[in-house]
Amino acid sequence: MSAPHEVQELAAPGERDITGLADVLIDCVEGGASVSFMLPLARDHALTFWRKVASEAQAGRRVLLVARDAYGICGTVQLILDLPDNQPHRADVAKMLVHRRARRQGLGAALMRAAEAAARARGRNLLVLDTVTDSDASRLYERQGWVRVGDIPRYALWPHGGYVATTYFYRDLSA
Ligand SMILES: CC(C)(COP(=O)(O)OP(=O)(O)OC[C@H]1O[C@@H](n2cnc3c(N)ncnc32)[C@H](O)[C@@H]1OP(=O)(O)O)[C@@H](O)C(=O)NCCC(=O)NCCS
Repeated sequence: MSAPHEVQELAAPGERDITGLADVLIDCVEGGASVSFMLPLARDHALTFWRKVASEAQAGRRVLLVARDAYGICGTVQLILDLPDNQPHRADVAKMLVHRRARRQGLGAALMRAAEAAARARGRNLLVLDTVTDSDASRLYERQGWVRVGDIPRYALWPHGGYVATTYFYRDLSA
């Protein structure tokens, strides 16, 4: 299965990129994804989130990866590099989001491969993430070699309310 989408790094995201990223986030939350935000997700709230991410990316504290289709940005993932001094070999993976129009074509897998390559290129060889237990995302990560650490019940809320468990995963790229 190969993705038709090219994944690129946005080192200096502009307003148009931020708008496209907000569209993807809003689509995912409206589709029921538990990714930090509640419904209704106001556009301004989403834009504020992505402006912060953009400034972190510009400062080199995060890597922001995106894929585009004919309608604009359709998928994204981040590597958080800004970690404590004693974890220079590590990064967190966050906000893996694929717009519903672009799902089930291998884009999530392509974004993760690109995130892992970006981590390796920066000497980060231990990655950590968490995601909704037994979700589309957890299947994706297990398929790509991520190791399941364990589940935490009642970790977060669904966008409409109600507790949801999270699963922590790691990926050791040092081998
Ligand atoms: C999780 C998520 C990122 C996956 O994105 P995606 O682009 O659909 O991922 P992929 O296409 O690589 O894989 C998804 C499924 O499509 C299948 N698939 C991939 N390419 C395919 C193709 N060409 N034809 C048919 N099926 C395909 C995969 O095998 C996988 O199947 P599964 O659901 O049975 O496990 C996406 O569902 C999403 O954004 N969800 C909401 C946000 C979210 O929860 N993010 C996780 C935060 S940690």
